[in-house]
Order: sequence, then structure tokens, then C-alpha cells
Amino acid sequence: MTSSFRNKVIYQIYPKSFFDSDGDGVGDLRGAIEKVPYIASLGVDMVWFNPFFVSPGRDNGYDIANYYEVDPAMGTMADAEELIDALAQHNIGVMFDMVLNHTSTDHEWFQRALAGEREYQDCYIIRDAPQGELPTNWVSKFGGPAWAPFGDTGKYYLHLFDPTQADLNWHNPKVREEAANIVNFWREKGVKGFRFDVINLIGKEPELESAPAGVDDRVMYTDGVHVDRFLQELNRRSFGQDEDSVTVGEMSSTSIERCVAYSKPDNHELDMVFNFHHLKVDYDHGQKWSKVPADLRQLKTILNDWALGMQDGGGWNALFWNNHDQPRAIDRFGDAGELRVESATMLASVIHLLRGTPFVYQGEEIGMTDPRYTSIDDYVDVEALNAYHALVQAGHSEQRAFEIVHSKARDNSRTPMQWDASEHAGFSSATPWLKPTRQDEINVEREQSEGKILPFYKRLIELRHEMPVIAEGNYAPHALEHEQVFAYWRLLGQERLLVLANLTDKPAEVSVPEEMLGAEILVHNYEDPKPAASTTLRAYETIALYTSK
Ligand code: GLC
Repeated sequence: MTSSFRNKVIYQIYPKSFFDSDGDGVGDLRGAIEKVPYIASLGVDMVWFNPFFVSPGRDNGYDIANYYEVDPAMGTMADAEELIDALAQHNIGVMFDMVLNHTSTDHEWFQRALAGEREYQDCYIIRDAPQGELPTNWVSKFGGPAWAPFGDTGKYYLHLFDPTQADLNWHNPKVREEAANIVNFWREKGVKGFRFDVINLIGKEPELESAPAGVDDRVMYTDGVHVDRFLQELNRRSFGQDEDSVTVGEMSSTSIERCVAYSKPDNHELDMVFNFHHLKVDYDHGQKWSKVPADLRQLKTILNDWALGMQDGGGWNALFWNNHDQPRAIDRFGDAGELRVESATMLASVIHLLRGTPFVYQGEEIGMTDPRYTSIDDYVDVEALNAYHALVQAGHSEQRAFEIVHSKARDNSRTPMQWDASEHAGFSSATPWLKPTRQDEINVEREQSEGKILPFYKRLIELRHEMPVIAEGNYAPHALEHEQVFAYWRLLGQERLLVLANLTDKPAEVSVPEEMLGAEILVHNYEDPKPAASTTLRAYETIALYTSK
């Protein structure tokens, strides 16, 4: 592996919602092929595709029944190959999504395990239930206990997610070998990028223990001591053999220290990591299913701590505001109404100029917002529906339960990509599986002809390619104590980049050191930026100043 990913930008496509080529209301691989010219026009280097392998679709493809075949609803193997080629012609790589912590219970292994084959039972985490109690007190991330009855054996199998997503036993060499086989199968098709789903959950101890009273059960199975060695083995047996592979691990509830270890080149594990701490600053006391304003102070602290901590330890961050599991960042940290353009561009500048590799989630580059849904019936995600019922059961009114779900639902970002202002947003000729939102004002066509967000993203992508200070420079905070402004330096030799971003809709004064006053204004989201010793940033204004003197 080289550090070639440092000056790259990765675009994320949720195939089910990108473009529907055959008029069934669901996006597909041929749809993505048709849109390759659009993807290329963004200037991105690689595209991460969410899973499109054979799946019953209980968790939209994160419940895989066959890792070696394309789901017929998404296309064929020939389509996948054509997609890889079509992107390669524009020098764009692909990153496929490897879901290796669990399989669907429809997977042949689980079915054979259920049928009594010991060899396959050892591939999963199956335990006795002493005295009729569940093996541990762990809860599923989608609600309810993390254990489900294993057929009529009286035993239980572990599922940290939906009951149809059975956790794999990574202590079994057969599981580790198969994981490498899957990655190698796709490598042979020319895939160089891999995103590993919830990969810091694979290192569970063979002896599973309940969380002691008052302890969050997640610490009992997250970042387990075996993760490093399992990742090193996978690296050696698969992607680590490609000089130019690009890998990112999704790390659930993790720490800076662990993420340094996962992404430090000398450790031979992964190139970079996603962590989610900055996207929990609008959780009330750590509870996702709550509705409170984002704590901007905390946001700044987390961004700064991770930037510094990863730099000091020699690790590398994947940078992002949006993905298929998160509501749209504009609604959380910006203004989805009047100041949509200003807040979208400010957020983009914060992420794209930081130390790490930026990811852009489809629709972000045109400033898509959360849907204006009014009823729980508009949502389809299993997590959202479970949460809604749990909230109602806990005593919330239906209205309040809906408001809370509406603020956090994963479907908020899974609404169809809006290509034009037509009824189905140019996504499909049929009614889409999720309703589009505000496509009359927010769509690609409009953004291409008169928009400000799309050109802003393209410029940021270009700058990362062109400027080593952005790709490689050191990070240092500026005005860390400021209540409203997030500001930082990027430094490389003589080069200095100072990034200022007003995170609020109120004017904010921030100091600019004298040596930066005559500097070039590299990035700005208002027509007439006015840097001064004391600069007044307008609502969501961002300015980046650059000098090499
Ligand atoms: C990851 C995926 C998410 C999925 C979960 C279980 O967090 O991003 O969409 O539901 O893993 O596979």
C-alpha cells in the first residue's frame, strides 16, 4: 500500500437510490453506468458502492446471502464488470462494500448450520442459554436482544444487528479464509478499493460476557483485542498484495487510540477509518433516538481531537458529514432553508481541507436535504420503524415519536438522487421506493446550470489534487476557544493554509494573524470575502487563506 489515497476524494453511491434504468422504482447498476459521465464530471478518484450482492434486503443489502453474485434486483455480474470498466476509462477506481462481521441467515452457511452441520455451526456465534436466560445481556443495534433462538436446538445465535444478520465467528480459520476469498474474488475483477462494514466488531472474545451493571454493553464486543491480528491476516491474504489498494474500515463506537492502530501504515491493517463521534453531538445523553440541537462546542472539540490525535499517532481519517446511515448534515449542522447554499458550502470546506481523505455522499454535492416527510409510513428502514415503535411504547406520543425518528432516520439520506425537477426527480419513470423531496428546487440539472454548491465541491476536489498542503500538510488548530468559529491551519514547509468557518447563522469575529492578511483567498462562499486582522464572518461564511511566502 502506498499513501496514494491522501490526495484523493471518494464519492459514495447508494445504488438503490442513484438511478433507476429499468423503471421499477429502484436504482440499479445499469443506472450507475448511465451516470458515469456525471460521476466523472465531479473529478472524484474512486466510487464506493454500497452492497449490491444477493440479499433478502432486510437491511438493504447489508444482509448478504451470496457474496459472489449480484442481486438480480440490482443487475448482473456483466453489469458490475461493465461498471468497473466504464469508471476505469475515466481513471476512477471502485470501492466495494465488504460486510464480513455477519451474513444473512439466508446464506448457505447459516442454512447448513441450521440443518445440523457442525462445520457450519462453528462459523457463527452460537451459545447455550443457561437456566433459560440469554447467553449475555447485549442488545441489538436495531433494538431488542442481540440473541435469537437457533432453530429448535434451545441454543441462541448472536446478531448485533437484525435477527437476520448472524454474526460470524472470526476465531474459526474457515471464516477468515472465506473473508479473504471474497475480497480476492472482487480483486480479480479489478476492484482496488474496499470498505469494511463495522469491522471493529469482528474481534469478540471466544468467551462472551454480559456487561456489568451500569456498563454500556458495546464495550464488551467493540474493538476487541483480536481485531488487529484478524485485519493483518486479511491484509496479507488479499488487498495488501495490491500496491494501490485503498481500504477504509467502518469503526463503530471506537477511540482515537484504536483508530491510530487500525490505520497506521506500519501496522499493515487498513488505510483509513470512519468514526462517528462528530455525528453524535446531537444525541441527548448519547441516545440516538432523541431530538436536540447539535452541540457545536463539542463538534469542534471532537474534530480537533481526532485531527490532532490521528496525526500524532500517524493514523489517517476518512472525512465525511454524510453517508447512507446518517440524516443529511445540512439539517443537523446548517440551515436547510434560506441559508442552504451557505451552510452546505461551509460544511464542505471544513471537511475537504482537513487532514484525511474526504468522502462525498451522493446528493451532498447538490445540497440535498432531509425529506419533508409527514408520516412514519413514508419510512421503510427497519431501524427507523423499530425505533418508532419503541418510542411509542416508552410513552411518547405518535407525533413526538415521528419527530424524533424524522430527525435521525437513515432513510433521510437514502431518498432518490434528484436529477431534475420532474415528479420522480429524474430518478425513475416509476414511483421511487422512497419519495423524493424538494426536487423542484434541489436537483442536478438546476445545480449544473445556475447552482453554487456543485461548483464549490468540484473546486475543493481539484484543490486536493493540486495542493500538497491539503493532501499532506500538518494540522494545527486556530482560535480553538471560539464559540462559533471552527478554524485550523494546514502547514507544509513554507506553505500555510488557514481555514475559517462560521458554524452558526450569526456573524462571528475571528482573528487572522498578520502574515495571512495579504494571502491568496483560495476558497470562499460569499461573493466579497473581507479578511482582516479581525474578520467578521457572516452566517455560515467560510474563507481559506493561502500563502507560500
Ligand atoms: C453498517 C452499515 C449499515 C448496516 C450495518 C449492519 O453500519 O453502514 O447500513 O445496517 O453496518 O451491516
